[in-house]
Amino acid sequence: MHTTDIQQNTPKKAFFESPIDQQTVEKYLIDLKAGKPSEIKKESSKVLKYIQSLNEKNKEQRFTFIDLFAGVGGMRLGFEAHGGKCVMTSEVDQKALATYFCNFGEMVPENLRDITKINEKEVPEHDILLGGFPCQAFSIAGERKGFQDTRGTLFFDIERIIEAKRPKAILLENVKGLLNHNGGKTYQTIEKILSDKLGYKVSYKVMNTMEYGNVPQTRERVYIVGIRKDLVHSDFEFSFPEPIKLTKKISNMLQKKQSDENLYYDRFDIHTQLKKEIKKTDTIYQWRRVYVRENKSNACPTLTANMGTGGHNVPLIKEKETGRIRKLSPRECANFQGFPKNYYIPKFMANSHLYKQFGNSVSVPVLDRVCAQILASVDLQTTMKKHKILN
Ligand SMILES: C[S@@+](CC[C@H](N)C(=O)[O-])C[C@H]1O[C@@H](n2cnc3c(N)ncnc32)[C@H](O)[C@@H]1O
Repeated sequence: MHTTDIQQNTPKKAFFESPIDQQTVEKYLIDLKAGKPSEIKKESSKVLKYIQSLNEKNKEQRFTFIDLFAGVGGMRLGFEAHGGKCVMTSEVDQKALATYFCNFGEMVPENLRDITKINEKEVPEHDILLGGFPCQAFSIAGERKGFQDTRGTLFFDIERIIEAKRPKAILLENVKGLLNHNGGKTYQTIEKILSDKLGYKVSYKVMNTMEYGNVPQTRERVYIVGIRKDLVHSDFEFSFPEPIKLTKKISNMLQKKQSDENLYYDRFDIHTQLKKEIKKTDTIYQWRRVYVRENKSNACPTLTANMGTGGHNVPLIKEKETGRIRKLSPRECANFQGFPKNYYIPKFMANSHLYKQFGNSVSVPVLDRVCAQILASVDLQTTMKKHKILN
């Protein structure tokens, strides 16, 4: 897919393309209340250096995309890996925006944070729209009124933007339960709008990170892809990635050393019980109030946005080197979501926010593979149409 025919608007300049200094970095992060100001100031020169190093990244621009419900940029990483250039970001959570800034050098202006307040006419032209919209939208709406159920949820803001901008392709991601929410009516509504009203050829597939991303985490998510109907033949069927062999092990995701003593459990009363039940070093365990559950699938259980808050615990391991029991570190959670090793995890950010951010995220390698399929199918179909191989 090439952008020459569709780039009418000049894409918004990424923040790192304009001059940036340490004071600007500090000010933005402090404004976002990303951590203690003194901690932010201590780390800001490192953040600045990292942001400047991003100039080298992403030279080739094959297509443009917008990153809605961006979180900490898991989808963005998968699409940048194929030469995608992000021309707009929307995310409402200030802490997530801070982590996002440290990794993409982009300051998201206030008027683009909350999708419900975005004027769709101001959204730049783009080839692909990405939206990992929050699953809570469906439970809030659940009054079981069929079509009316999803009114007022954030999907309709995505709809507004698609209608105004007509991207070539869209990718939405959500929990598997979206498919049978309200007896399947919620998904039917979404598909009908995308297909009949907006003119997209829609396909979906539930994929588990450990089967499709070569990362040992059980994470089943539904991926919904829409390709604009005028770009494809009427028989077109989108091909999702095929499963791949899981070669990475739990041990490949774990860090050898931890400097944060807060991760360890030996100082708590509960430690005696944990010690009795947590025996293996190559297994992930889950502490569930009254019992410990061993994860038998040789993978990490699904990381969730609420792990680390009120009764929802971060998965546990027994360290091979020391035999001590501890929870996964934020970096290890990022590893279980397939984030690259050089992804910047800010030290000034409290762990509770980092757990939420990586629990909320997509698994990067799955997104990378879906992106490759989208590009391949749109490219191929467009070329075949141009050369009249297809009508
Ligand atoms: C499931 S996460 C998305 C993960 C992300 N797409 C990724 O690539 O990793 C959903 C995100 O939507 C954000 N969100 C919720 N309501 C929003 C709104 N009204 N406008 C913009 N973002 C919103 C949340 O803060 C959360 O980070």
